[in-house]
Amino acid sequence: MQRLLRTACRGFALLLILPLVGEVHGHLRNFARLDQAELKEANLHAGIDDALMKIHHDTKNRVEVERDYGDIPVVTCHPGRPNQVFLNILNNAQQAIDGNGTIAIRTWVKDDQVHVSIADTGSGIPQEDVARVFDPGFTTKGVGVGTGLGLSICFQIMEDHGGSIEVKSEVGVGSTFSLSLPVRPS
Ligand SMILES: Nc1ncnc2c1ncn2[C@@H]1O[C@H](COP(=O)(O)OP(=O)(O)OP(=O)(O)O)[C@@H](O)[C@H]1O
Ligand SMILES: [Mg+2]
Repeated sequence: MQRLLRTACRGFALLLILPLVGEVHGHLRNFARLDQAELKEANLHAGIDDALMKIHHDTKNRVEVERDYGDIPVVTCHPGRPNQVFLNILNNAQQAIDGNGTIAIRTWVKDDQVHVSIADTGSGIPQEDVARVFDPGFTTKGVGVGTGLGLSICFQIMEDHGGSIEVKSEVGVGSTFSLSLPVRPS
């Protein structure tokens, strides 16, 4: 009986850990491929829209999405990488909204830099955590929910492209992530 219980416990632990391992592996694999990827011209609005479609299941009837898209040029970058950034930030945003709320996305171009701001009316981030959100492994989500790698990968991708990512947040009000990417790598 005891052995049966032990086997069941092990099986359950494996069930919890396996998706996590898969996720970490996916993230690492993406890192390794970055160097080989060719540069391509990307339409960032299409990338944002694609990410919004991917999270639609979790946002529909709950989160209002406001899009204020400016007249931005295509950006020369590693294909798919900015989309990965949008997906993680938008997913974090919807996860931070408990019940109803808003995600507001704005894009504009200035001095050969494309800017994207993604603001949510979610929980906000405590001041002592704001500096840690880009650290690999920092997560406040439960086991099997988040690996804490998302924003560290976003940071790396933005850095690889000569861009930047910043966050401003207030508990109880929400968070705004600001991205900037050069139109062409220098
Ligand atoms: N929009 C946000 N609102 C509130 N907290 C946020 C927001 N975005 C990130 N955070 C905080 O930063 C932490 C790190 O985010 P990150 O995307 O790196 O990892 P994660 O979402 O926890 O896991 P993963 O992205 O691997 O699924 C989150 O766990 C959360 O505490
Ligand atoms: Mg995340």
